Amino acid sequence: MTLNKDLIGEIINVTSKAAISCHKFIGKNDKKNADKAATDSMRNEINKLKINGEVVIGEGEIDEAPMLFIGEKLGAGSNLNIDIAVDPVEGTNFVAKNLPGAISVISIAEKGNLFNAPETYMDKLAVTNEVPIDATDLDFSVEKNIKNIADCLNKDAKNVTACILDRPRHKKIINELKRLNVKIKLISDGDVAGALMVTDKKYGVDIFLGIGGGPEGVLAASAIDAYGCKFQGRFIFDKDEDILRAKKMGIKDLKRKYDLKEIIKGDSIFCATGITSGELVKGVKVKDNNFITETLVTHKNSNMCKIVIREDTIKT
Ligand code: FBP
Repeated sequence: MTLNKDLIGEIINVTSKAAISCHKFIGKNDKKNADKAATDSMRNEINKLKINGEVVIGEGEIDEAPMLFIGEKLGAGSNLNIDIAVDPVEGTNFVAKNLPGAISVISIAEKGNLFNAPETYMDKLAVTNEVPIDATDLDFSVEKNIKNIADCLNKDAKNVTACILDRPRHKKIINELKRLNVKIKLISDGDVAGALMVTDKKYGVDIFLGIGGGPEGVLAASAIDAYGCKFQGRFIFDKDEDILRAKKMGIKDLKRKYDLKEIIKGDSIFCATGITSGELVKGVKVKDNNFITETLVTHKNSNMCKIVIREDTIKT
């Protein structure tokens, strides 16, 4: 089934309004209220939609209200059963410190088609669609992945660019990338955008790898699906509470590697609206009496991948 095209504009509205709500917190060193403003706005806007929605990727468990929690029912109701993945502010540090790259993100698919991910870390791999899907794998060594990418793209490893979060846990991978003379793009936060860097040549990234948030991995996968790029993820369950939660969610094999098609199936809509300007989209701008927003939108079944610019009147 294809998601109704009217939903595309409605979902753009959801992330645009969330980004606008968060705008006043840019540079205020207040991650909590920035997140709350975007979350409240998202809930409010999704609840106006004629859908029967359920949050499968959210901002925590039910007792962590007022966040959008996993299992929360959203929408004004209809027979359209929808799974919803949200990250009202991806890059809360960026908002708090007025740094580039904060986005408000959502992905929707039909019920049962979006992976119900626990809030743990995920080992991720995303690769440009210019490289055949089987040429890279989470189980290959860094060297094998880089060499295969270089061969497929007919270039030297020194001209391959790898994007990775700048974290101490990645020391080994980063040292290996250095040894291979790969160009490294180190990002301080925001690995949804990091993974999406493989989707277009203009970002100059061939591979995204490393460990980041599991929910962020599912969100990135749903956008990457529309670009035909590769994505793989493996959750990391190293705390007892995470293992328990995973089992409750029905995950039996805790070491399982998930391919994109197991994370997101069928039709989907993904939207990421800029809060602060970054490489993907520009941040919220105020012009005259309007807020201008930029949203990256993908719609799987219509092969739509585009940037939508909107103006919303400032309510006084
Ligand atoms: P928040 O916006 O929730 O702070 O997440 C930012 C982020 O950089 C994600 O993009 C990434 O997946 C995760 O944090 C990495 O987690 P950590 O900072 O613990 O390495």
